[in-house]
Amino acid sequence: MIGTYVCDLDELPEVGAAKADVDGRIVSIVRTEDGEVHAIDDTCTHANVSLSEGEVEGCLIECWLHASRFDLRTGQPQNLPATQPVAVHTVTVEDGRVHVALAGTDQTTQGA
Ligand code: FES
Repeated sequence: MIGTYVCDLDELPEVGAAKADVDGRIVSIVRTEDGEVHAIDDTCTHANVSLSEGEVEGCLIECWLHASRFDLRTGQPQNLPATQPVAVHTVTVEDGRVHVALAGTDQTTQGA
């Protein structure tokens, strides 16, 4: 129902990102200042760089290499050089445990 268990909430940085392997897919789990948790594909769409190593500001994460910023809610880049969105996955936090249902899969209905 809520996807794959990834980590406990208190294992995430207070504000920032952590890289996780969710069923073989590398995902950035990101906690923002307002306490929201998001999950996006970890690889920047501009080059093969890990977004989880970038800075989080508001609901944006900035690629450390060329500074494209991606909206954590939509995956859309806000500035060049990246032009393609990253995939956004569904996060459910329950009892302090973070679960991710991957986009484009049936996990939300599988009771995983
Ligand atoms: S590698 Fe991310 S913006 Fe260039």
